Amino acid sequence: MVRSLRPETIAALGGGGVDQETGALVPPIHIATTFVRDADNQYRRGFCYGRSDNATVRQVEDVLTRLEGASASLLFASGMAAATAAFLALERPAHVVAPRSMYWGLRQWLMTHAVGLGIETTFVDTSELAAIEKAIRPGRTRLVWIETPSNPLWSVTDIAGVAGITHAAGALLAADSTVSTPVLTRPIEHGADVVLHSATKYLNGHSDVVAGAMVFAAGSSALYESAAHLRTMLGGVIGGFEAAMLLRGMRTLHLRVRHQSAAALSIAQRFEHHPAITHMLYPGLSSHAGHAIATRQMDGGFGGMLSMRFKGGRAAAVSSAAKLQVWKRATSLGGVESLVEHRSSMEGTESPCPVDLLRLSVGIENIDDLLADIDQALPKS
Ligand SMILES: Cc1ncc(COP(=O)(O)O)c(C=O)c1O
Repeated sequence: MVRSLRPETIAALGGGGVDQETGALVPPIHIATTFVRDADNQYRRGFCYGRSDNATVRQVEDVLTRLEGASASLLFASGMAAATAAFLALERPAHVVAPRSMYWGLRQWLMTHAVGLGIETTFVDTSELAAIEKAIRPGRTRLVWIETPSNPLWSVTDIAGVAGITHAAGALLAADSTVSTPVLTRPIEHGADVVLHSATKYLNGHSDVVAGAMVFAAGSSALYESAAHLRTMLGGVIGGFEAAMLLRGMRTLHLRVRHQSAAALSIAQRFEHHPAITHMLYPGLSSHAGHAIATRQMDGGFGGMLSMRFKGGRAAAVSSAAKLQVWKRATSLGGVESLVEHRSSMEGTESPCPVDLLRLSVGIENIDDLLADIDQALPKS
């Protein structure tokens, strides 16, 4: 018997295991909302009610825990349900530190709703360790949140460096690793206490499931207990069908992410010096400010996300997006189809996202088709 399976094998087998009753290689989907009590009134099988207990959900959690080298995971109905649970699970009042460049929806929530819930956020450039050190309020800062590479500038944060500073101040480190996925970075190995995924993106990978996850390091059991309780109380649970779809998507995670990373690097390199482009933002380029750290903490690629900024400003960015044919103009990321988005149109006027920026999520189409499509769409000088 093989003692410890490699991550690709764990993912490809959907966690392994053959259904004992039928021999099925694809596990049955559990949709029951309620479970029978033992005759002595106990629930010894560990399943009581669908808002807290679902065997399909637990199977996906187990796979994710193993892929991240973690001790436990919790699936949620969306990435936002998972991320907000991480903040709501903190003892309050809570001061937290978060990146200036991060997923816009969560930044909005921190700036608006979280304040009234006793959560005060200081936003800093988390790629600068000194800025984090300065923002931390000893005894009051409970959590440092990072996202690496971060939306939509793909700036890179040194996970181990931030972990050292955060733990010295008695706070927890949470890493949104949606873009890296466990294929490229396992933040817990670098000192993170909890990892967040919008599983809607690469983990599922097919643009047909909305899901989220929190993944916990061994020492984070108090946060785990608190988040698990909140999930049951607030009810942001994922259904059995969605969990089964997610498990199917995760079987090809390694193939997809490695392919998408290689294709993104080709695209970044091909158009980095194009006369219509002022900045090509991709951590895999040696010109990127975070390249050295990304090389240290990303293993086997730099992810499938990149952004380009246009010499002709907003108009050039929007009209180039309009000319693309293979790339689809749509929000979201991490699916098998390549997407392009004028990100500041989505984020609104208060966004720090430059108006001349297009965000690209690289899919699994033929790379020559993707390159040719961009080539014909870029402004000619
Ligand atoms: C990096 C990142 N984190 C979190 C989220 C939120 O996830 P969801 O849309 O699944 O709620 C997103 C969504 O775009 C994201 O890109």
